[in-house]
Amino acid sequence: MAIGMCFLLGCQSPVKRSLSSANAPASDNDIDIDQEIGERAEPGEADTDRFIADTITGYINRRYSDGRRPAMRDAHAKAHGCVRATFDVDAGLPDELRQGVFVPGKRYQAWIRFSNGASEINPDKTKDARGMAIKLTGVAGAKILPEEKDATTQDFIMINHPYFFVDSPEQYLAMLKVFHKKIIFDKTNAFNALGAAMHLGLHDTRLALKINATRIANPLYGQYWSMTPYRLGVGPGRKAIKFFAKSCANNKPKAPGFFSRPEADYLQQAMAGTLSSGDACFDFYLQTFKDFESTPIEQSTVEWKEDAAPPVLVARITIPAQKFDSSAQMTFCENLSYTPWHALPEHKPLGTVNRARRVVYTAVSKARHGLNGASRSEPTGDERF
Ligand code: HEM
Repeated sequence: MAIGMCFLLGCQSPVKRSLSSANAPASDNDIDIDQEIGERAEPGEADTDRFIADTITGYINRRYSDGRRPAMRDAHAKAHGCVRATFDVDAGLPDELRQGVFVPGKRYQAWIRFSNGASEINPDKTKDARGMAIKLTGVAGAKILPEEKDATTQDFIMINHPYFFVDSPEQYLAMLKVFHKKIIFDKTNAFNALGAAMHLGLHDTRLALKINATRIANPLYGQYWSMTPYRLGVGPGRKAIKFFAKSCANNKPKAPGFFSRPEADYLQQAMAGTLSSGDACFDFYLQTFKDFESTPIEQSTVEWKEDAAPPVLVARITIPAQKFDSSAQMTFCENLSYTPWHALPEHKPLGTVNRARRVVYTAVSKARHGLNGASRSEPTGDERF
């Protein structure tokens, strides 16, 4: 999520979606729209999604032409590390949640990448959003992305905040135009960028500020949310869910204060310190759709509050004691590609923000791997460094 710029610039809100538009068109994005579950496509959203992808890949190419190596992610560029983990599905899982990877008692090997949110490698003390991207391996079954239908991975991508800062790709694009105006500057775009800058809505600025406002002590002690909804199941009985992972530690360390001077990479060091002497763990929860007001599908800026959608514990994530910071492992980490669309149909990402991510993440991953001469492949879970 490239939101660091919103901290400074805020984000425009030109379009608000109406959930009552029952006759909304099917997507022109070649993505199946699940109207019964509450998905609504806006005409033209596919063009916006492609424009976002082109803008971001243009930016990545430009950084590369400026001599920056390797070509990095445009969002969540700085990894604190990728760690080996196990994902154990609860043996007593309620029947209605037994879908896709949620097979009671099943254990998956996983790779989890912890990251800062910005598109630059800033010192960890900089306030930012923080990411936790889980990749389950050894997942059988055809996946959604036609190009990667035989991949054996399922990704769950989260940030340490319960909701996103925009509802639509148009709003995201307005923010990108401001941020990337030097790259896409021409008469039309100059006008658009000015328009975006003049529409710094208070509401979205406040959301962006909140999401970017965290300074943390150690990524292994946080709570991370999906922000956007996903489907659980296929066919009749399928439902919309959100998920989150919460550290199971009781005593959480305090973030460095304003006047302290921690090292630039203190978050990686904190993780290494924790995992040099013991395990870390997270509980993984699902929240189920209740109604379109309290648990909307197309409005990613609305938090699914726990009183409206009570969380159900579905899995325990264990990150065993390990060393993870060799240069070979950090390179492996850099070359991983996470996307919400590395998914079984039972976990289809829902809503317009997720549809944009389908186009953008694949394009950006291909661009950076291409520039770096790195192969794009999904891990098996057996990798050792
Ligand atoms: C339109 C909306 C969004 C756009 C355009 C966008 C864009 C991106 C891009 C370009 C990347 C880098 C992909 C790569 O190079 O492989 C990325 C990574 C990431 N995004 Fe988003 N994002 C969006 C929404 C979100 C949301 C809602 C979340 C909430 C969980 C999120 C969380 C993340 C995380 C955690 C990563 C890092 C994944 C990793 O560790 O590799 N993003 N995003």
